[in-house]
Amino acid sequence: MYLSKDELLQYISAKPFHLVSEAADELGVEAYVVGGYVRDIFLCRPSKDIDIVTVGSGIALAEQVAKKIGRKASLSVFKNFGTALIKTREFELEFVGARKESYTHDSRKPVVEDGTLEDDQNRRDFTINALAICLNRNRYGELVDPFDGLYDMEDRIIRTPLDPDITFSDDPLRMMRGIRFATQLGFDIEPETFDAIERNKERIHIISGERIIDELNKIILSPKPSVGFDLLDKCGLLALIFPELDALKGAETKEGIGHKDNFSHTLMVLDRLAKTSDNLWLRWAALLHDIAKPATKRWDAKQGWTFHNHNFIGEKMLPAIFKRMKLPMNEKMKFVQKMVLLHMRPIALADDEVTDSAVRRLLFDAGDDVDELMLLCEADITSKNPEKVRRFLNNFKIVRGKLAEIEEKDRVRNFQPPVSGEEIMKTFGLTPSRPVGELKELIKDAILDGIIPNEYEAARAFMLQKAAEMGLKEC
Ligand code: CTP
Repeated sequence: MYLSKDELLQYISAKPFHLVSEAADELGVEAYVVGGYVRDIFLCRPSKDIDIVTVGSGIALAEQVAKKIGRKASLSVFKNFGTALIKTREFELEFVGARKESYTHDSRKPVVEDGTLEDDQNRRDFTINALAICLNRNRYGELVDPFDGLYDMEDRIIRTPLDPDITFSDDPLRMMRGIRFATQLGFDIEPETFDAIERNKERIHIISGERIIDELNKIILSPKPSVGFDLLDKCGLLALIFPELDALKGAETKEGIGHKDNFSHTLMVLDRLAKTSDNLWLRWAALLHDIAKPATKRWDAKQGWTFHNHNFIGEKMLPAIFKRMKLPMNEKMKFVQKMVLLHMRPIALADDEVTDSAVRRLLFDAGDDVDELMLLCEADITSKNPEKVRRFLNNFKIVRGKLAEIEEKDRVRNFQPPVSGEEIMKTFGLTPSRPVGELKELIKDAILDGIIPNEYEAARAFMLQKAAEMGLKEC
């Protein structure tokens, strides 16, 4: 965590920093790099977004810097917010004047009461985000760290600079940000800060769904997402922002038979998947794969606990969840729905003998997403019984092998029936009607079951034979 002055200077040796330095001195104002960029220097996570705070007008400083860069810079000015953004191909520089009021990066309220650097640092979210490095020539590279953010980084602690009740009431999204940083960085949240999240949790309701989902997505994309969800659960935010996930908690026992706690199982699946895939939507599928278990849970005297059709009901639950949470209701949601619907298929397949026809059907249903589906299913094996795990994983290997073999042979992924409905209608002089659908389905099944190859001639002959059996005559 410790960096020598020379090392620190290296991180601010790039041209944009020197241009800001010159421009600030010309205008006679103080200028600092602040926030995430400084934090990430010490965490060795190089970042391209540079936030500059000046004790003066952020816009005036940005204009001066833009002049120096010349045509390569594109400058946007947000007068209402007193901020400006310079974009070049290599970097993004955001300028803001130091504020007395809360610093909320994307707040829609124009709060621009001028303040000192100290005022500005006071109003930031966490000590690790409140460090500043001076860029003025005579103090170039001087670190201003009033809240010992550096020590907190060393101790791996998330803590607010002020009384956490004040910091969180300034912007309640910070409660989620704190949990998100803890998850991304593997830091602990200092107990007083965490207690304040618990106390202020209801205030999350004033925050827009879009801002919440941004943080949730960052938690999901972390190396071990369960850390974040356990924290959200512990402080009570989970029940407020994601009641369906909260409802997975708990395990009931009847007549000595229990079922697994679906919340911890889900988190285990998500953590396992995080090791093999960084696809955000596949991770969402892991989070949601058993979401309908509470709704479908039944006690059956013979079978014990059952969750029949939880995949099917889960798929149906997603649009309402996506809509409320401001998640995209497009092909991304459709992908998650497909994963939730099919998540048990490869397991069922691997449970029995793996037949060609079952693999062909899986390929047909999953299409191009079959590899993602296999990753999800492998992550879903959380049994504590090593023998069971070994058997499943071994069968999955067989399934994967067969998938490749059959795909090569039959090309059923994105399968298009070789004989179209139109051709069937033309051949028998039919209008769109039930026999047309039936014939199409029979051809599809015959191909997927390996009765005929996935080829036109064979499919046409098969159609003629089945049509004759149905009493249809060629015209
Ligand atoms: N900030 C804040 N309160 C917020 C959002 C941001 O105090 N609700 C401050 C923090 O000092 C933060 C800086 O604004 O470091 C920049 O915010 P942002 O770009 O959103 O986040 P980063 O800290 O850069 O982290 P990341 O890029 O991972 O989101």
